[in-house]
Amino acid sequence: MPTCVVTGGAGFIGSNFVRLALADRPDLRIVTIDLLTYAGNLENLEGVPADRHTFVRADITDPDAMRRAVPDGADALVNFAAETHVDRSILGPLAFVRTNVTGTQVLLDAARERGVGRFLQVSTDEVYGSLAPDEPAFTEASPLRPSSPYAASKAGADLLVLAAHRTWGQDVVITRCSNNYGPYQFPEKLIPLMLSNALEGEPLPVYGDGRQVRDWIFTDDHSRAILAVLAGGRPGAVYNIGARSERFNLDVVRAILAAVGRDESLIRFVTDRPGHDRRYAIDPTRLETELGWQPQTAFEDGLACTIQWYRDHEGWWRRVKDGSYRAFYEAWYGKR
Ligand code: NAD
Ligand code: DAU
Repeated sequence: MPTCVVTGGAGFIGSNFVRLALADRPDLRIVTIDLLTYAGNLENLEGVPADRHTFVRADITDPDAMRRAVPDGADALVNFAAETHVDRSILGPLAFVRTNVTGTQVLLDAARERGVGRFLQVSTDEVYGSLAPDEPAFTEASPLRPSSPYAASKAGADLLVLAAHRTWGQDVVITRCSNNYGPYQFPEKLIPLMLSNALEGEPLPVYGDGRQVRDWIFTDDHSRAILAVLAGGRPGAVYNIGARSERFNLDVVRAILAAVGRDESLIRFVTDRPGHDRRYAIDPTRLETELGWQPQTAFEDGLACTIQWYRDHEGWWRRVKDGSYRAFYEAWYGKR
């Protein structure tokens, strides 16, 4: 039975990936490794087939723990584990360097020692920095110009992954995806934050003029792209993932308000994020032409499905919003 190690599998994209991969590949076994930080949640993995899934709580920055947790000869390791919220990286960058940079090197070393077949690093379009309105979308040849400590830590990790390929011939691939949305996304990110606040009748904090642009992709389309790159990506190559779905933040917020029947008077324009990237756009031509991947979900359909999921899982997001998240919300938004 092929075995895939998934780090960060109790988070948003990781848990959606675990569910989709196990459903898509009936012969696959997954070992999920996750520290269960504030963003990790075992509820996200409820219902996955227990006979083909094992969960290990461990820190990817701990070399001994990783040597123990990664099974000998596993076919692949997909590294989703990371600190992921740009705003938190502005409040406290060190955790991002530790998990995203050190953690990636620890995993590369463990994967080599354990003879893991392929290492897939889940990176981000944020490593490319910001685009002007008329600039073409990022390709894999775009220079790395990260703006935030989060993006810089992800860029650092990418360079370590490529160095492992060059130095030891390790079989690595990197994916750089645009903004994801979908079920189980932690309500600190734009769509679930605005949606849960709208459902509660709370103000919606829009940074600056709200005219920043993000390129949205439904998380299952990201997962299918990762499966395609795992199966057919060239060793040492980078693949951009995106659905050609650029939207102004303000338009996304308005669509959410309209869908839940709330008035636009809930919108609050607040002080901008420092170093805020104005626009992201991804060119996924390499993935489409080399591996035949295409996104399957139009933004309007994916957003409607996501809104329905949050309506149906109020207990999930209320529990998540109750914990340490309140302290972060106060520290970040309190004075904006
Ligand atoms: P998330 O914050 O929802 O989940 C991160 C997971 O990593 C959590 O389960 C957390 O417990 C775990 N984790 C954190 N530190 C760890 C550690 N030291 N050891 C073990 N586990 C640890 O993140 P997400 O949005 O699902 O993002 C997953 C990956 O995809 C990240 O690498 C991120 O950079 C990348 N990515 C995200 C997006 C997006 O729009 N969310 C887009 C492109 C790429
Ligand atoms: O592009 C991929 C990246 O997308 C991932 O690598 C990151 O892990 C993920 O967090 C995301 O980064 P962004 O900064 O683009 O996502 P976020 O949801 O934080 O913000 C999206 C946009 O919405 C951005 O322009 C900032 C704005 N925003 C966000 C929040 C949380 C607001 O206007 N108000 C808010 O309260």
